[in-house]
Amino acid sequence: MRTDMKHMLARHLELDSFFTGDFSIRGKRSDPTASTMPLSTDSEIMNDTAEHQDTIFSNDADAQPLAHVETLEDIAAAVRQCRLCGLAQTRTHAVPGQGHPKARLVFVGEGPGEDEDAQGLAFVGRAGKKLTEIIGAMGLKREDVFICNVVKCRPPGNRDPRPDEIIQCMPYLKRQLELIGPQMIVALGAHAARTLLQTDEVIGKLRGRFFEYRFSQDVPPAKLMPTYHPSYLLRNYTLETRRRVWEDMQKVMQELGLKSAKP
Ligand code: URA
Repeated sequence: MRTDMKHMLARHLELDSFFTGDFSIRGKRSDPTASTMPLSTDSEIMNDTAEHQDTIFSNDADAQPLAHVETLEDIAAAVRQCRLCGLAQTRTHAVPGQGHPKARLVFVGEGPGEDEDAQGLAFVGRAGKKLTEIIGAMGLKREDVFICNVVKCRPPGNRDPRPDEIIQCMPYLKRQLELIGPQMIVALGAHAARTLLQTDEVIGKLRGRFFEYRFSQDVPPAKLMPTYHPSYLLRNYTLETRRRVWEDMQKVMQELGLKSAKP
């Protein structure tokens, strides 16, 4: 294990709380031409600040264990064979994620639940149905976007993924994002948002604002919008929560030049 990753892991475990370390996910966006629609620049963007510069994933091949993996299918194959953490022992199926290989929009959730573990597909249970509705309301189909998770195997009993599990799994997500090269990432819920943004801020403070997800110094970053997880939405199915998620998605749609399928 690389020294910087060990260092980060030690810090995570030492702090004994979720997402309190400042690990950065950086890398190369493999195909900068993948984005065809320009993004406007007038949104509120939180730039990487100095304390976010500490990184476990720098852009050189040595630091990116999957740099040689050139297709999403090969990443999926690696995920299915992965035994890097204890979740491999309890999973039925690993869940690499699925969707358009050059999607302009990627949804990142927390980790597979029971249905996803049974089928090997991301977001196919109750929360997945809600996500499908949200995607439809945005005028898109699931096949138009890419859907995946921070961790690729189900944490037993749907517990939160642990920092060591996230650290082992992050290279898969990072490489998926590099290969897809989306313009926009929607982080579904606190775990995805905190992991991708290296913060311990609560989702209520993060959602509704655009952040940056940096692939590398040379490639323009993707925009990242945190919003509530569909499971949270289902548990708190109030007008207010629904309104907030819809407002977040409308901002995303505006950035991507999408028209609502809603009347
Ligand atoms: N919740 C998630 O975060 N991901 C899934 O794939 C399903 C439910």
